Amino acid sequence: MDPFVVVVLSLSFLLLLSFWRQSSGRGKLPPGPTPLPIIGNFHLIDMKNIRQSFSNFSKTYGPVYTLYFGSQPTVVLYGYEALKEALIDHGEEFSGRGSFPMFEKASKGKGLGFSRGNVWKATRLFTVNTLRNLGVGKRTIEEKVQEEAQWLVKQLKKTNGSPCDPNFIMGCAPCNVICSIIFQNRFDYEDKDFLSLIKKVNECIKILSTPECQIFNALPILLDYCPGSHNIFFKNYTYISNYLLEKIKEHEDSLDVTNPRDFIDYFLIQRCQENGNRHTIYTLEHLVSLITDLFLAGTDTSSTTMQFALLLLMKHPHITAKVQEEIDHVIGRHRSPCMQDRIHMPYTNAMVHEVQRYIDLSPNGVVHAVTCDTKFRNYIIPKGTTVITSLTSVLHDSKEFPNPEMFDPGHFLDGNGNFKKSDYFMPFSAGKRMCVGHSLVSMELFLFLTTILQNFKLKPLVDPKDLDITPVCSTFSTIPPTFQMRFIPV
Ligand code: HEM
Ligand SMILES: *[C@@H]1O[C@H](CO)[C@@H](O)[C@H](O)[C@H]1NC(C)=O
Ligand SMILES: *[C@@H]1O[C@H](CO)[C@@H](O)[C@H](O)[C@H]1NC(C)=O
Repeated sequence: MDPFVVVVLSLSFLLLLSFWRQSSGRGKLPPGPTPLPIIGNFHLIDMKNIRQSFSNFSKTYGPVYTLYFGSQPTVVLYGYEALKEALIDHGEEFSGRGSFPMFEKASKGKGLGFSRGNVWKATRLFTVNTLRNLGVGKRTIEEKVQEEAQWLVKQLKKTNGSPCDPNFIMGCAPCNVICSIIFQNRFDYEDKDFLSLIKKVNECIKILSTPECQIFNALPILLDYCPGSHNIFFKNYTYISNYLLEKIKEHEDSLDVTNPRDFIDYFLIQRCQENGNRHTIYTLEHLVSLITDLFLAGTDTSSTTMQFALLLLMKHPHITAKVQEEIDHVIGRHRSPCMQDRIHMPYTNAMVHEVQRYIDLSPNGVVHAVTCDTKFRNYIIPKGTTVITSLTSVLHDSKEFPNPEMFDPGHFLDGNGNFKKSDYFMPFSAGKRMCVGHSLVSMELFLFLTTILQNFKLKPLVDPKDLDITPVCSTFSTIPPTFQMRFIPV
């Protein structure tokens, strides 16, 4: 046969084969728009308004659909039913983590947030148990948060009621809470080590949320061609890790196995017990990645939520007045708020939940993946397929929360003014990968906000009506606009 004909024939055969494989594969995946070669569905997705795009697709294709980011299929879960069914009823299958090459390269697959399989399972179990142990220990986490709330007030008093940008101070408090859990000491808000730690954490988060970084994650091959922002990320990440490694070394020298002081001690004690096990997660490298994860996951998230809470409270003075009335009534002026108070403060509790619902900090959570070929509804999702969980679709569900675009603590109150729990409250996602910091966050938000409102009147620099609360970015994580305000002592 003519060699040319052979080439043409085999090429067409290969082409047919690839079409056939694609279409038979697609037949089992959930429905979705037809992908173009190489770019997939990128051209149909409005990156500036992903929320609206995802909502639009769900209207055409239903609550479970497939989008192609490049040549990779990604399953999107939209709405409470689909999320609950996947993350809770099929918890094990959907507990995988989607790939995040930039972060994985830095953490080398160790740690908690982006690890997989048995490493993730063991790390998760240790973390959840240790946070619980520290919570009920002698010096409980609640006390640490209360103490930090008093430092926060002290720092805010120093502003003397003059205009200030709360961004920085609101970042210090949650970072200090993590510091005191992990290595037992907090820092002065002017401490140089502390300031550079916070700065590096901020840089890392900022880089991870740039659109550029998201494109790298979809097309990791580009990373090798444009290493710029990857290197900056890597440098900042390494700075944090090295700093934490030093803290670990100090702990090793002063370890008392009968008396764990903090998170690092618990880990080191476990490490002694597992000595000799080759597959253990109890190595210093794992510990560094794990606590770096906790810093990266736990600082900016809480700080951003606090900043948004201040903005919303200033925007809605009648809501703030009701919260302050409840504080006066239940706590008074002479002692610090504690978690026990929350049961008697349904309105304040509802306000805090409403802040988290309304701002929708992490509109699509963190990418998941299925851990095996998964039969879900009538589809078959192949092992390793990326899964996006639209938390927005649950937090802004208009049946559960009428007028979801309105900030209204009434969304979490019943007709008698009692606090009303909702299964749709999913800012931390749900199931096996649910945020490990969720109870810590609830504590921080309640104690920090009530302590601030017990001590200060919040004053915007403009009329509340003119206060702009539109997020500057809400694609991958919701970021509030920068603003100034006054804290007037009461
Ligand atoms: C307002 C504050 C916070 C919000 C809204 C938030 C939200 C989330 C969300 C949506 C996820 C992804 C869950 C999933 O994969 O389905 C997550 C994971 C995680 N969060 Fe948070 N988080 C917050 C604060 C914290 C804090 C304070 C810590 C530290 C103690 C923390 C540690 C983590 C870790 C380690 C993971 C990864 C868990 C895993 O992959 O198994 N977060 N968080
Ligand atoms: C969503 O659909 C509406 C109405 O069909 C359309 O006007 C809008 O441009 C779409 N938005 C996005 C982001 O796809
Ligand atoms: C951290 O990030 C900043 C800005 O993104 C960069 O200038 C700096 O060189 C990075 N590295 C270190 C070690 O701080």
